[in-house]
Amino acid sequence: TEPAPPQPRFGLLFDIDGVLVRGKQPIPAAKKAFEKLVDSQGRFVVPVVFVTNAGNCLRQTKADQLAHILGVPVNQVILSHSPLRMFKKFHDKCVLVSGQGPVLEIAKNVGFNNVVSVDMLRESFPLMDMVDHNRRPKLPPIRWETNLQLIVDILLTNGNLSSVHQTRKTPHIPLLACNMDLMWMAEAHSPRFGHGTFLVCLENIYKKITGQDLKYEALMGKPSELTYHFAEYLIRSQALQRQWELPVTSLYAIGDNLMTDIYGANLYNRYLEERVARKNPKAVAQMASGAGSGAAVPREEEGDNLWESELALPSATSCKSVLVCTGVYNPNVEVPPDASHCIKETVFHGHRDFRFDPALVEPDHIVQDVAEAVQRIFEQEKFGPQ
Ligand SMILES: *[C@@H]1O[C@H](CO)[C@@H](O)[C@H](O)[C@H]1NC(C)=O
Ligand SMILES: [Mg+2]
Repeated sequence: TEPAPPQPRFGLLFDIDGVLVRGKQPIPAAKKAFEKLVDSQGRFVVPVVFVTNAGNCLRQTKADQLAHILGVPVNQVILSHSPLRMFKKFHDKCVLVSGQGPVLEIAKNVGFNNVVSVDMLRESFPLMDMVDHNRRPKLPPIRWETNLQLIVDILLTNGNLSSVHQTRKTPHIPLLACNMDLMWMAEAHSPRFGHGTFLVCLENIYKKITGQDLKYEALMGKPSELTYHFAEYLIRSQALQRQWELPVTSLYAIGDNLMTDIYGANLYNRYLEERVARKNPKAVAQMASGAGSGAAVPREEEGDNLWESELALPSATSCKSVLVCTGVYNPNVEVPPDASHCIKETVFHGHRDFRFDPALVEPDHIVQDVAEAVQRIFEQEKFGPQ
């Protein structure tokens, strides 16, 4: 009889674009990496989650696409909006969803039962949307003005569009935001506005009109700790399902973007290390928010037990960041003069609620590609054939 295969004590978080695929093409190293990660029965030999800030589709759609491109079973995908599943206390509230793609379906899929889209609001309150004079009936271009206008209306009317703006009414109704990427790379030569740019507009409009800061109930998507908590939770669930008895103590996050993948992994690692140091679970949420964003983590004192019930407490004690050179990060290009300001502190492209900290964009490992990343991690963990 064969000896039982070794049980992993680590889990992997893969970014998708620039690590596993470019556009619709697999990166060759990805196939090589997954040969080591999948056994003869097509099962992963270590817990794996795929973590992307994409958000304009359903989790299953993204999983199917990735499975098709890579030829491996994929079911653990975390999109920027996936952690919304944890916010149970809002799931039966009436919520306005703003975004791209099948937003109603996405919202229902993460657990919301009473959902209104910006289009539904426009139709019910046609006078509110003065920016829309000439909307084309088919495939309208993406226009932010309507979403900005109606979200601000909702915030200033406390959710009742039949009433007039109350600019002194604070705090505003809860706001959850997914994906704070300021820009992203598409087919154009230069980066395009991302959802983070939309948030910058919303924050500034709200501040200009009310004099108050817009406050997020939660911000999710990398580099928010929330996304990593959710990833850790899914990794723990996978290990449990496979009846791997040893707790998963090390996480490795593999990505190509310093500001999202590396910053996020390092921020979560800092949280895990502080937690281990203090060994005080009660201080958990507080410390996490102190490390980065006051808004990024649901607060414990709200008493809905979300934290304990949905996530329990992480078994991981570290999250190492691994940077690959197959995506936006390119070691052969010295930091171009027009990007150096993003790395030094003069211009910070991260979100308002995240501090710039040079230590957080320092990867633990830099490797050529994802195959080398997996190789190095297996060596470090003394796992599998090397
Ligand atoms: C909304 O505001 C209008 C106008 O002030 C008021 O008549 C109506 O009762 C409000 N609706 C709700 C549900 O509070
Ligand atoms: Mg990427």
